[in-house]
Order: sequence, then structure tokens, then C-alpha cells
Amino acid sequence: MFEEQVIPLPDDVFRLLRDFIHGYCGIYFDNGSRFLLERRLSRRLEQHRLKSFEEYYHFLRYDRKREEELVILIDNLTTNETYFFRESPQLRAFSEEILPEFRETLAGRKVLRIWSAGCSTGEEPYTIAILLLESGDWWRDWQVEILGSDINQRVLHTARKGVYKKNAHRATSPDMLAKYFVADEKGDFRIIDKVKELVSFSSLNLLDPYKTSLVSNMDIIFCRNVIIYFDREAKKKVIESFHHKLRDGGYLLLGHSESLINISNAFVLRTLKNDMVYQKPVRERTDILNSR
Ligand SMILES: C[S@@+](CC[C@H](N)C(=O)[O-])C[C@H]1O[C@@H](n2cnc3c(N)ncnc32)[C@H](O)[C@@H]1O
Repeated sequence: MFEEQVIPLPDDVFRLLRDFIHGYCGIYFDNGSRFLLERRLSRRLEQHRLKSFEEYYHFLRYDRKREEELVILIDNLTTNETYFFRESPQLRAFSEEILPEFRETLAGRKVLRIWSAGCSTGEEPYTIAILLLESGDWWRDWQVEILGSDINQRVLHTARKGVYKKNAHRATSPDMLAKYFVADEKGDFRIIDKVKELVSFSSLNLLDPYKTSLVSNMDIIFCRNVIIYFDREAKKKVIESFHHKLRDGGYLLLGHSESLINISNAFVLRTLKNDMVYQKPVRERTDILNSR
């Protein structure tokens, strides 16, 4: 095997590149990550026949094809690890406590909007759709929207196909596998149409205010294992935007190792039977009147 050529990334260019990536997608590479960037991005320079990272930086900023390259850059730098039925206590809180609450409180408007922000290859929003199907028929005459979004176009392509390797099913029970997937001749598992039809996918950078302005009035946002890679400033921006996009009383579900400590006071931490979840407070009438 040939060894890949690694092109040196000088300190000053590393800082330029790091700040550019951080401004674009929120992911922050500290000084210890210089070699990681060097290793992962050297082949991109070769691909474009660029001789130095400085030239690559200018390419990313000004080239006609910069948008296309940003997609590939993100793909090289992001972690897309995910699987079906990830973090079961939280999913139990969703299906056994939050959904029954929605069933009651949203019965008047009969609209349910769920957003899986940073959905990677789709396992999370499809799991949500399966849990909804498992919860009975009560929502059949409702308008139900489950949106999965990610910054990475490649993972969204896989999500839209809905075909998964065995590895995606490390937490799927045999019952769920048999009920909602069909094994193909290669041993992969195709999600059935009944689930697929409930989910739509969209390419969306959580730090892009223009794209995210198209999302609003959500009842629940799952954003799990996404902002852990962001610095505090970027986390604050994203959480503030989630606050705007949730209706009063809506829920925010983060990954099990994530919290809003030092990030935001705008949510209430509620202890449910199965897990702790963040909720956007319902504004008191006086608050509403004061804010006019
Ligand atoms: C580790 S995966 C998490 C997938 C899923 N939420 C889960 O918990 O299993 C993180 C995903 O966040 C996406 N991501 C990272 N930065 C993003 C940004 N600025 N906007 C949207 N998605 C982003 C990555 O592309 C990646 O697919």
C-alpha cells in the first residue's frame, strides 16, 4: 500500500483554517487538532493540485467551487456515528411520557412537529417515526411532520435511501427489526415505506440563520451528540435558535452527556420518570402582556 502524502499545516494557517471552520459550522478544533486537520485534509489539497494549506484556505474562501468543497471538508471532519434506538431511557421518556402528553395537549390543533437536528444517516428520525407508529393510531388524522436535517449531504443521501448495515442495529430489538425492516440479498436492512413516509430530510447548517429560519413552531427538538463538538459561543447560538423554534412548552432533547449548564437559562430541566429533559417554559399571561 502507498502511504498518503501529508502536507505540512503551519501554525498560522492552522489558526486561519480553524477559525474559518468554526465560523462556518460551529465545530472548534483546538491546538491539539492541528495534526488531525493536516492528515485528514492533505488529500483534498492533492485532489485540487494545491501545494500548500494557505492555497487551500484561499480556495475555501474565494473559489467558484467553494460550496462543493465545503461539503467534502465537512464530510472529512465530522463524526457521523449513530444507530437506531440510541439512548433508550430518553426514547422511553419520549414514547411513554412526552407523546401521551402531546396526545392530550395538542388534541385541539392536531399538528405534531418533530425535528431531529443533526440526524446523520437517518437512524434517529426513523426511530422517532417507529416510536410514533408503536404509540397507536391516535395521531392518524393529525398533520405529523418529522424533519431530519444535517449539514453533511453525503449522510442525508444515505438517510433518504433508508438502507442500513447490521451495525446500525446494535440496539434494535428483534421484534422491531422484523416489523419495520426488510432484509435484502446483501444482508442489509431496508426501512419499510410506512416509516419512510413519515420523515422528510433537509440539508441545513445549524449555524446558518437563513436556512434555519425556515423551521419554526416545533413541539420537540432532538439534537443529540451534535453540539458536543461546538465551542461555547456556537452552542449558545444554536440553543438560542432552538428556543425560538420551539413553541411554548416544547421539549429539547440533548445527548445523555450534554447539558445546558453555562449555555442557557431559558429552559427548565424537568425530571420525568424515565429521564431528564429540557422544556421551554410556558409564558405566563403577564409575561406575554409585558413583552408586547
Ligand atoms: C454524531 S452525529 C449524531 C447523530 C444523531 N443525532 C445521534 O445522536 O445518533 C452528529 C451529526 O451532526 C452533524 N453536524 C455537525 N455540525 C453541524 C451543523 N453545524 N449543522 C448541522 N449538522 C451538523 C454532523 O454532520 C453529524 O452527522
